[in-house]
Amino acid sequence: MTETSFAPRVFSGMQPSGNLHLGNYLGALKPFVEWQGKGVETVYCMVDLHAITVWQDPADLRRSTREMCAGFIAAGLDPEKSILINQSQVPEHAQLGWIFNCVARMGWMGRMTQWKDKAGKNAENASLGLFGYPALMAADILVYHATHVPVGEDQKQHLELTRDIAAKFNHDYGVDFFPMTEPVIEGAATRVMSLRDGSKKMSKSDVSDASRINMTDDADTIARKIRKAKTDPDALPSEAEGLAGRAEARNLVSIYAALNGQSIDAALSEVGGLQFGAFKPMLADVAVARLSPISSEMSRLMADTGEIDRILMRGAERARAITAPILKQTYEIVGMVGPTP
Ligand code: TYM
Repeated sequence: MTETSFAPRVFSGMQPSGNLHLGNYLGALKPFVEWQGKGVETVYCMVDLHAITVWQDPADLRRSTREMCAGFIAAGLDPEKSILINQSQVPEHAQLGWIFNCVARMGWMGRMTQWKDKAGKNAENASLGLFGYPALMAADILVYHATHVPVGEDQKQHLELTRDIAAKFNHDYGVDFFPMTEPVIEGAATRVMSLRDGSKKMSKSDVSDASRINMTDDADTIARKIRKAKTDPDALPSEAEGLAGRAEARNLVSIYAALNGQSIDAALSEVGGLQFGAFKPMLADVAVARLSPISSEMSRLMADTGEIDRILMRGAERARAITAPILKQTYEIVGMVGPTP
């Protein structure tokens, strides 16, 4: 199959479990907004079914889903231009997910680093959903015949698996039905690291709140977290090679560059030679300038959750106009009899 035989369509998803943080923003949400302006259909999803692969308090899940939708809109996604959905309201995701459970192999799933990290030594006690997680993720993407998926670096392996599932389905059934999706992992900050430890990814599951900047943090909190961020004693280099072996310095410079929409080299030509004492306030200023308007818009939108629910309902209707025919064709290919949902 040629990779160009499908009309371009962008899909991406995010788990509504906990707060949106700077890693989500720079690695995913900012690129989502950039794609929206490129004249391609864009679909963005709060993956609530994925979230429950580990325990979620129901009230927290509802709040996080609505807050994530508010965050998407506050960051610049327009519900008229992009289709905004929560996964559970578009049942074709889970239905195709089942088919892919029957296509994907146990061995493939067992090799996923995210599964190994999350289940750890306690795999016997992990949910079956956590193990099968990447098959549902493949379904999220392929039920739209999506061709491009903007994500952070940590999702690369799951997107390779999505291609493996599409290729095996096409091969097993002798069809050219699912596209070979392209991961789009671009920008200066595709892997934002913890502010406390430059070898760990910034993540909502880190026990230390000081390790991450949440989209809902106020200006003082952002400035304090940056002031306390781990660094080394040397001045910043003037070229990217000078960041080798300096994980914390690389991370802060990457964040600065990404927030300014610059390359790392362009950022270093501006801040190279500075000590962290001088650089950190500059970083805090740009972080506050970019994030504060988003967080205040988020709180404004959260005052009317009825409107958010209407946006998600309308998004689901538009999404199903795409997903229902693709699922119907999939059922026909697989050999299911009768009227399909
Ligand atoms: P999730 O919810 O963990 O993260 C959402 C997006 O944010 C990116 N991201 C980061 N980028 C840079 N630095 C970081 N520290 C950082 N942390 C998170 C992630 O790469 C991701 O793009 N499995 C997905 C959700 C998903 C999905 C999909 C994504 C479900 N179905 C279909 C794309 C397409 C996840 O858990 O992302």
